[in-house]
Amino acid sequence: MPTTTAPGALRVLHVASEVEPLSKTGGLADVAAALPRALVQLGVKVAVVTPRYRSVDVGRWALARRLRPLPVQLGHTMEVTVHEGNLPGSPVTLYAVDHPVFDRDGIYGDKHGEFGDNWLRFGLLSRAALHIGQELWGGVDVVHAHDWQGGLAPLWTARGVGGARGSVLTIHNMAFLGMAPPGLIGELGLPPEVWSPEGLEFYGKGSLLKAGIVFADRVTTVSPRYAREIRTPEGGYGMDGLLRARAGKLSGILNGVDYQLWSPERDPRLPANYRAGDLAGKALCKAALQRELELPVRPDVPLFGAISRITDQKGWDLLVSHEVEAELAALDAQIVILGSGDGGLEHRLRGLSQRLPSKLALRTGYDDGLAHRIMAGSDLYLMPSRFEPCGLTQLYALRYGTVPVVRATGGLDDSVVDHDAPTGTGTGFKVHDYAPHALLATMRRAAAVFRQRVELRGLIQRGMAMDFSWSASARRYLTLYQEIAKEKSGK
Ligand code: ADP
Ligand code: GLC
Repeated sequence: MPTTTAPGALRVLHVASEVEPLSKTGGLADVAAALPRALVQLGVKVAVVTPRYRSVDVGRWALARRLRPLPVQLGHTMEVTVHEGNLPGSPVTLYAVDHPVFDRDGIYGDKHGEFGDNWLRFGLLSRAALHIGQELWGGVDVVHAHDWQGGLAPLWTARGVGGARGSVLTIHNMAFLGMAPPGLIGELGLPPEVWSPEGLEFYGKGSLLKAGIVFADRVTTVSPRYAREIRTPEGGYGMDGLLRARAGKLSGILNGVDYQLWSPERDPRLPANYRAGDLAGKALCKAALQRELELPVRPDVPLFGAISRITDQKGWDLLVSHEVEAELAALDAQIVILGSGDGGLEHRLRGLSQRLPSKLALRTGYDDGLAHRIMAGSDLYLMPSRFEPCGLTQLYALRYGTVPVVRATGGLDDSVVDHDAPTGTGTGFKVHDYAPHALLATMRRAAAVFRQRVELRGLIQRGMAMDFSWSASARRYLTLYQEIAKEKSGK
């Protein structure tokens, strides 16, 4: 496979508000790093543009500062400083955009809440990206924008800014519409005619996500089932009609896994490594995790792990429901949750862990090392999401022999096959209803199978054998880029 790009290779510029390892709040960062790497393997020339937040150490990532500031034309000119280098360990070009609006504590908000000018900050990122692509990188064929933060890049691309032939928008999460006040038109120097229901206007405000949906040549989301869900009133957040109208250019492409980072046989963050053929190391990881989290060290008890934002999306309200606390207390199982997010839910989870200290261990904050140790040390992986566009951690769990217990929604439904004892098939356990008793019933079903050694072994082996590497999904994106390039070849 080529790792260097041929002359005449397609040039694709990604615009992403977070990119691993520079910045991360969730799966977008994983995708914005792994998809570009996979595209390079297919012979595409790729650059990624992302903000330089206060937390980004440009020295650590060997990014060099361009001496000349870059003027970015919005309602008025804003000058940004550009740091340039490579996505660590890859030929992907990386640009980090520096401006005082990014130099704050927090990526999207701080302890006082979301920043009120996020639409301006990410409008600046999108416009700066198009200038960088044209003026510093040497030209772009297709712009690939991610989520609402990249939403204005397709709009400006359609107006000829940056000179790309067309654009793709990937929706990672429909719950975030990127709302802006009407003043965005003047502040960002947008053409006044886009302020209409056919443009980015959405019930009297502006939506940067809508701008992307309307103006991109292709819209994708991160699993086939989620692509269907967002076209329904339940999943569309008021944009289902628009998405139904755009169905011809909308598709679902399942995310992949970067197995360089997530493989139990070579993961340097684990107390012991293991492979499908020899799970002795996994037992050591479990005991070490139980010790670390001060849970009783018991090999015979099923240990459910979770690494998750603690928000409404992820389903933790089901677990803290008073309706099922007695059932949970009666279940001979342990649960480990690493997460951060919503203060109220975190507080309720903490209360539960204090009432059931030998059963539930909660760790809050962001901890990459612990995330890996939970992935390896758990027997089962809990993901009761209310909705889930794709979900990456259940894919990591499959590779770590940690059997997923998921709600049948979005990418969770697409990536996990329910256990069926009579036929000896399946890779995990699915719960269909979004209800506390349904979740507990499925956890009990999983805990019972955990005690059936042969069945459990089958589940683990089938899960570990699944291949969610990026190459197949990257090929699908490449096809979209090629279609756009061909459609616009006269330009
Ligand atoms: P989402 O993007 O909705 O948060 P995903 O499953 O797609 O969900 O991706 C979550 C990513 O963030 C995974 O790489 C996961 O390991 C990581 N992650 C989430 N919370 C934490 C945390 N508290 N500490 C470390 N990693 C976390
Ligand atoms: C979003 C979604 C998650 C998805 C991730 C990467 O944060 O919530 O389901 O895996 O983006 O696409």
